Amino acid sequence: MQAHQADELDTAEKLYREILKLQPMQPDALHYLGVLCHQCGRSDEAVELIGKALSITPRHPDAHNNLGNVHKECDRPLEAEACYRRALECGPTHYNALSNLAVVLEIQDRLDDAFNAYTALLQQAPQFAPGHYLLGLFLRNHAQNVEHLEQSAECFRTAFEIDPRNVRALEALGVSLYALKRHEEAAQVYRDWLVREPENPVPRHMLAACGGADAPARADDDYVRNVFDGFAESFDEQLLKNLGYRAPQVLTDALTQVLEAPQSRLDVLDAGCGTGLCAPLIRPWARQLTGVDLSGGMVEKARLRGGYDTLAVAELTAYLEAQPAAYDVVLSADTLVYFGDLLPVLRASRAALRPDGWVAFTLEALDGELDRSELSSSGRYRHSRNYVERALLQTGFDDIRIVPDTLRKEAGEPVRGWVVLARRDSSDVRGEAE
Ligand SMILES: C[S@@+](CC[C@H](N)C(=O)[O-])C[C@H]1O[C@@H](n2cnc3c(N)ncnc32)[C@H](O)[C@@H]1O
Repeated sequence: MQAHQADELDTAEKLYREILKLQPMQPDALHYLGVLCHQCGRSDEAVELIGKALSITPRHPDAHNNLGNVHKECDRPLEAEACYRRALECGPTHYNALSNLAVVLEIQDRLDDAFNAYTALLQQAPQFAPGHYLLGLFLRNHAQNVEHLEQSAECFRTAFEIDPRNVRALEALGVSLYALKRHEEAAQVYRDWLVREPENPVPRHMLAACGGADAPARADDDYVRNVFDGFAESFDEQLLKNLGYRAPQVLTDALTQVLEAPQSRLDVLDAGCGTGLCAPLIRPWARQLTGVDLSGGMVEKARLRGGYDTLAVAELTAYLEAQPAAYDVVLSADTLVYFGDLLPVLRASRAALRPDGWVAFTLEALDGELDRSELSSSGRYRHSRNYVERALLQTGFDDIRIVPDTLRKEAGEPVRGWVVLARRDSSDVRGEAE
């Protein structure tokens, strides 16, 4: 168990298996080996092992809770719900099981039930900081009025007061305050945080996002790593299930309209692949599917999901620059929103594409006729249509298609975006006007 906790998974697995050789039905070894198998992407084996452990110790709340987690992460919310309910029957004060139950009810869009579960959790365990944080996210994700946003800010504040290590709650507090138009208070949250941690890239970026400092040309690498390494565990749950995230689907739908029928013939780069949500959608077209992302945590999730031939942890522009004429398609869902200035990354994409290759990406939309981009309070950039068009023309693309669509929700509101496709022009030399 010590090896397991230290993330030495090979050692831990070997030791659990040795125990099971000596005593095949040792329940703890079965249970923890199951958890380990799930961490390594062998979730069917995990279900079998934890199930076996529960046949010996059927009233073990942790085992029910962990089995629930396996089902939740394998997209089986009903099975997960049943496990969490069993965990709570066996251990009524199992706060993790109750908070997981709330999350899994939210995933199923049973918002009243989820709200009741969060409330029960906080009545039972008012000092449980993750409960306040999760309720804050719930209230903001599904906000129907200003009161919900105000309550979300209070939840984040309480979560941070109880556990000052929980800086994600601080980031979330700033975002809620900004959404409430309390801009100066939001900036103050980040300023105070920077005083305590001057090197932390998150408050630095977020202070710029609320207008309290100059915006960088793109989100800096440390910020991206910090945010997405911390987000990797809950990314699919938060975005896909709770925020109606549809960028991968919308983008691949658009792209497949310009590609030939799927024949596994194209070399495709998923640029900013995250947890790998685009992989199953684009795979039928790909001979080689490569994923690249700055966040090692996200790439690890993509590796577990499967579908890629190659995965790399690297900064996107630098990675593209090192791959001349290597791809037929460069696809990027919800990643160029971390780039204010699109010219370097588009120039690098063009160089990485073969003649007539396609670049395909989504962005968040900035209204108006002006040719510009801006860092918004969410920490992501928005781009105007004129900016995107000019940047593509300037970096050597033609056949430009920019279509508006809704990519996800935020604070209860749809986030409008652009779905962009463009073809690398066929000239060998870039006639690019700087
Ligand atoms: C919102 S996620 C989208 C992930 C995935 N494309 C999807 O649609 O699910 C954005 C991803 O972009 C990555 N990212 C942001 N800036 C990057 C950069 N400069 N280089 C590489 N990856 C970057 C982040 O690490 C994160 O995984």
